[in-house]
Amino acid sequence: MKRDLISIDDLSNAEIGALLAEARACESKSGSQALDGAILATVFLEPSTRTRLSFEAAMHRLGGSVITSADPQTSSNVKGESLADTIRMVDGYADVIALRHPAAGAARAAAKVAAAPILNAGDGGHEHPSQTLVDLYTLEREVGRLSGLRVMVYGDLRYGRTAHSLVRALWRFGATTVAVGEPGLELPDYVTERLQETGATLVHVGVGDLGIRPGAGPEVRATIIAPADAGRSFDASGGFDAIYVTRVQKERLPSARSGLALPPIDPEFLALAPFARAIVMHPLPRTGEIDPRIDCDRRAAYFRQAAFGVPVRMALLQFVSGRLDLGGPREEARKIITESGGACSEGACISVREPQSAVAESVRGADGRRRCAYCESPWPA
Ligand code: NCD
Repeated sequence: MKRDLISIDDLSNAEIGALLAEARACESKSGSQALDGAILATVFLEPSTRTRLSFEAAMHRLGGSVITSADPQTSSNVKGESLADTIRMVDGYADVIALRHPAAGAARAAAKVAAAPILNAGDGGHEHPSQTLVDLYTLEREVGRLSGLRVMVYGDLRYGRTAHSLVRALWRFGATTVAVGEPGLELPDYVTERLQETGATLVHVGVGDLGIRPGAGPEVRATIIAPADAGRSFDASGGFDAIYVTRVQKERLPSARSGLALPPIDPEFLALAPFARAIVMHPLPRTGEIDPRIDCDRRAAYFRQAAFGVPVRMALLQFVSGRLDLGGPREEARKIITESGGACSEGACISVREPQSAVAESVRGADGRRRCAYCESPWPA
């Protein structure tokens, strides 16, 4: 059975660990022919620099070839072709497909019609799992471990898809995550509810209560994601291992915002005691949330993080191509049991934007509530 990567939850912790170990080996691999003869298609219907180029560099480093459709204006999309039809075509040309699309759930819709594995390179404001593998690898390389981390995620957590995949993964690896969202752009309910379903407790506090109020401005709320009661006794003076910053995803906001409440990460911010040993991460591009004055600080990890995109995606491409033995039994793809009846009402969902590409379906959470199988938003009653 083919393995897609639609959500970070499609990989078990053991698989993630083995992929990161392979990524380490790939750092020193040059001239590999592991994927000789294989073709990767990068289908990017939204802007990208790092994700597309690092996927392509990874395939070249493995001896494979790349075909690409990276300009939405020159793809048949502008002629009105559906996503499902585009993917059916590309499926005939390539062995692996990396897809970026502006609609939430697009990668899941694509995976249903493709025989080739689909790698979700960002589906609207929903998920970005290969970035999360890069983020986890960065944490492991720079902090020295993945378990029991203390991480602050900071910025636009509502539309920042990288943050959605990352907080899920951090939780699964036993991290305590402090989510500091730009007011009005906090983590969406579908993310927090899934965390709670799997045992996380969410504690809401003001950042001032944590003793880390950065700069002036209105009181910003923080959500501590931790097991059982651990969030209640969280003490920021224990310090953070990392602060993960995201830009405001202005292309997904219903209206323009000015006067952001969260201050940028600058030398004064990093001088606060809890960040003394915290690495600074960002999926990039940055648009003002990180002051370039900290670029030379040894804690600034974002450019190293971007470079790690290549070895991590080398490991991922080998895995989904069936050419990487992860050392244990190959785990089955996660089974998703869907129900029909009704329709999603989230305007950004692929099943709403392109019903011809994604037949409306829901999934039931452990709490019994139905959610859209594509974008995970609550299913209208
Ligand atoms: C991110 C993305 O596209 O979601 N960038 C990336 O893939 N490295 C972050 C962003 O665009 O803000």
